[in-house]
Amino acid sequence: MTRFTPLLALSILAVQTVAFPQYQSLGGLSERELADILPRFTTVTPPSPPGPSNDTSVRLVNDAAHPYVPPRNGDMRGPCPGLNTLASHGYLPHNGIVTPTQIINAVQDGFGMDNSLAIQLTYSTMLVDGNPLTNLMSIGGKSPLTGPDPPKPAIVGGVDTHAVLEGDASMTRGDFFFGDNHSFNQTLFNELVAFSNRFGGGNYNLTVATEYRFYRIQQSIAENPTFSFISPRILTAYGEAAFTFIFFVDGRKADGQLSMEAALGFFRDGRMPDDFHRADGSKTSNLVDNSVDAIFAAHPVQPGGNNGTVNSYTLDPNSAGINDTCKGYTDFVNITVRSLYPNPQGALRNNLNKNLDLFFLHVAGQCSQVFPYGQ
Ligand code: HEM
Repeated sequence: MTRFTPLLALSILAVQTVAFPQYQSLGGLSERELADILPRFTTVTPPSPPGPSNDTSVRLVNDAAHPYVPPRNGDMRGPCPGLNTLASHGYLPHNGIVTPTQIINAVQDGFGMDNSLAIQLTYSTMLVDGNPLTNLMSIGGKSPLTGPDPPKPAIVGGVDTHAVLEGDASMTRGDFFFGDNHSFNQTLFNELVAFSNRFGGGNYNLTVATEYRFYRIQQSIAENPTFSFISPRILTAYGEAAFTFIFFVDGRKADGQLSMEAALGFFRDGRMPDDFHRADGSKTSNLVDNSVDAIFAAHPVQPGGNNGTVNSYTLDPNSAGINDTCKGYTDFVNITVRSLYPNPQGALRNNLNKNLDLFFLHVAGQCSQVFPYGQ
């Protein structure tokens, strides 16, 4: 991961109201829901993101202002236990419909994630899963609360959307091929527990992460004929294995040892342990970088996938590997984003360009920016 380079001057949040293309029916919403969301269905110019936090200290985050409130019917939750937890503790809106600014503030405030990583994750996800016109995204499945969709092939399907960022061989979620790629899967969690008992003395730690990450890849190769493990999934897969023993461990302890009780709370319920303190935000960036390197180095699986039958893993020489930062960035923009937005016009194009500028921030200084829709 890379350091944040504030290339773009901070600008004031500009909100612009224009006639909205009604591509999607809003039927099915209650009057109360409509009253709540209709005023938000304006085209919003994406504002500049929050900068690094002034306060990166270890501190209580499961506090009186952020109690655990389980999701109500209709609240969106998805494959990311970090975002689910932030929504259920009120660092993000409880309904799981969020803006990039809210995500960046929430991951910094609630978990001590560094600004550059927060920007990278947030804008990559926003570009493929969010609504670029309303600047809203669901942290779970598709929702009318993100506003009327831009034209297809855009998906605007929320963080659950398979194959743009969400991917195979997750630790506690099944592969898309088996039907549910986003819900907590108790069978997989039991395997994580078994690995933690075998390699971590009952805790999830770096050794467990290296072995369980590799095991899940082997399992998908053996069981999922459509298994895909190319960029960007390859990077997130190693990143998330590391996040688990960095961000879910109480910052006062910060020993990289996650108990199974705490793990179950985060992965299944989106719930912080009582008295949970966040990690030291000045240290998490290096910890993530070093841990990803170590997890990968232990079992370096190169990008590839099965070819329609199980046990047919074939390397994909066209995919970026986990250390090909600039190719990973360029391919994400030119291939993944463009496949969803081949020819955007007007406000859609302007907002995509703005989000692309913001996504570029995490590699500014080391890669050249690409402009699929002109400058
Ligand atoms: C910054 C905004 C974030 C975004 C946009 C994001 C997005 C995602 C996505 C798309 C996935 C699904 C990947 C997959 O397994 O297929 C995921 C999984 C995951 N995320 Fe996040 N995430 C964010 C922040 C965090 C934070 C702060 C944490 C930890 C506190 C976290 C921990 C995890 C873990 C552990 C998984 C893997 C779940 C599993 O394999 O069972 N994420 N995230």
